[in-house]
Amino acid sequence: MLKVSASALRDDFFVVPPPSLPRIVELHQVNAAEDAARLLAGLLAADARTDPKFFYDAQGCALFDAICHLDEYHPTRIEAAIFRDVRAAIAREIGREFPAGYQWVDLGCGDAAKSRDWLASIAPRRYVGVDIAADWLRPAVARIAEAYPDVEAIGVVADLAAPLSLAPVLDEMPEAPLFFYPGSSIGNFEPQRAIAMLKALRQLGGGRGGLLIGVDCESDPQRLEAAYDDALGLTAAFNRNVLRVANRLLGADFDSRAFAHRAWYNEIDSRVEMHLVARSAQTVRFRQPHPAERDYEAGEVIVTEYSCKYTPARFAALLDAAGFRRQRTWQDPAQRFAVVLATG
Ligand code: AVJ
Repeated sequence: MLKVSASALRDDFFVVPPPSLPRIVELHQVNAAEDAARLLAGLLAADARTDPKFFYDAQGCALFDAICHLDEYHPTRIEAAIFRDVRAAIAREIGREFPAGYQWVDLGCGDAAKSRDWLASIAPRRYVGVDIAADWLRPAVARIAEAYPDVEAIGVVADLAAPLSLAPVLDEMPEAPLFFYPGSSIGNFEPQRAIAMLKALRQLGGGRGGLLIGVDCESDPQRLEAAYDDALGLTAAFNRNVLRVANRLLGADFDSRAFAHRAWYNEIDSRVEMHLVARSAQTVRFRQPHPAERDYEAGEVIVTEYSCKYTPARFAALLDAAGFRRQRTWQDPAQRFAVVLATG
């Protein structure tokens, strides 16, 4: 009989090498001062606006996570269903398009859970997780590295508003990039800016790259509005949370209860707009980056987000304008969401 003493077990434990830390490249030093100046300028402007990126502090991320589980919020659930149903077909297509291999570039990877599911069906040369949130990136990339030891996994801290900054990292390898941009995040860009962003992605691929993207589609306005104004009020809380972020970043004194959440589908521009509407006349003070004051009249609006919706044809035109020549689209039976693989 083999006798194993406690000390032998401990010795065994110590010979296991610690998991190596993933490589993280910092392309984007988050410039807090510039961010604050932009946020303040938007809130002081006659047509007050905030960039959707300011939703996502820790509380905002938690609220968005919860939103993704709501009955009313369809994009996450339908995209997951499409991915599940056509994953094998898309994986085959990717294999055909990239016989020499590719780098899987996860744009706004978050916890990288969606990519983790994909990597079981595809075998990229390298996984590149890109996110602006440096703190979340390291554990996300480490989990990919652990689950797929044969794939080199790296993280890049970068702002997706400036995708060309990724060039030095992607150019380290001959394999072209295949950008993975799920969740209809592209909807936060207005169409002209979306084209600019897609053009930059195409340029990074040098005509040999690709894009696997999820796009929320034009559908019944009432259901779209319900997706952004749910019965439990989670989206309302997510929207008002931007005022807490402003209070922290700008030393402001917004009373978030003094603003009402509004979500409406703008049919002319095919987008859900989220607004915060002042319930009464009020004065808000700001201490940073410079002292300022702003009166909001009763009913005055802060525009906090556009979430643009497309038909497959309109989105195809966008990809075309960006230079992507080959495209394949998959949709759910109700055609509320589209997944597109574009190359060329
Ligand atoms: C993360 C931008 C895709 O527009 O649907 C969810 C954010 N806003 N509910 C979206 C969001 C309100 C979401 N995106």
